[in-house]
Amino acid sequence: MKIRKAKISDLKQVQKLINDFAKREQMIPRSLNELYETVRDFVIYESDGQICGVCALHIMWEDLAEIRSLAVDKSHQKTGIGINLVKRCLKEAKSLGLKKIFALTYHPDFFRKMGFVDVDKASLPQKIWGDCLRCPRFPECDENAVMLHL
Ligand SMILES: CC(C)(COP(=O)(O)OP(=O)(O)OC[C@H]1O[C@@H](n2cnc3c(N)ncnc32)[C@H](O)[C@@H]1OP(=O)(O)O)[C@@H](O)C(=O)NCCC(=O)NCCS
Repeated sequence: MKIRKAKISDLKQVQKLINDFAKREQMIPRSLNELYETVRDFVIYESDGQICGVCALHIMWEDLAEIRSLAVDKSHQKTGIGINLVKRCLKEAKSLGLKKIFALTYHPDFFRKMGFVDVDKASLPQKIWGDCLRCPRFPECDENAVMLHL
């Protein structure tokens, strides 16, 4: 499966993929500015020159990182792309020496299949809530928090 680190030239397509889901309140939207600043967080799946999947590993603290901005184009879902994108991020997390990876998600079963367990959102560090302020559903958050210990 063709998963690779994102390049600057990928980011307009990446933004479209993320923001199409964000318009339906399924994800937090990302600006191009933010994507340029965090390009090193992203891995992508490309097929025939089209970016069909994206996922980011965002480091939060000395032992903690977040899986975020995970999206697979509708026509490519349920073919293993999502799981392979997350696996690639987990591999990088391990190599960096991170110990805990969390995600905030409407698809907890997807993450549970990979060994993530449910945690109380309140147990996550306050700095994660900066992103939540931009969520269309804030403050009525109905996302699940899940965590994996590497
Ligand atoms: C969630 C999402 C990334 C999953 O990607 P995907 O490429 O379809 O997932 P995969 O094909 O890798 O699925 C891996 C496994 O998880 C399962 N799975 C996929 N989506 C699932 C879901 N929403 N709930 C439960 N299980 C799910 C698959 O059935 C598969 O299980 P299997 O190996 O036993 O068959 C994709 O549905 C998506 O982009 N959704 C819209 C955007 C979004 O909500 N992003 C935020 C995610 S935190």
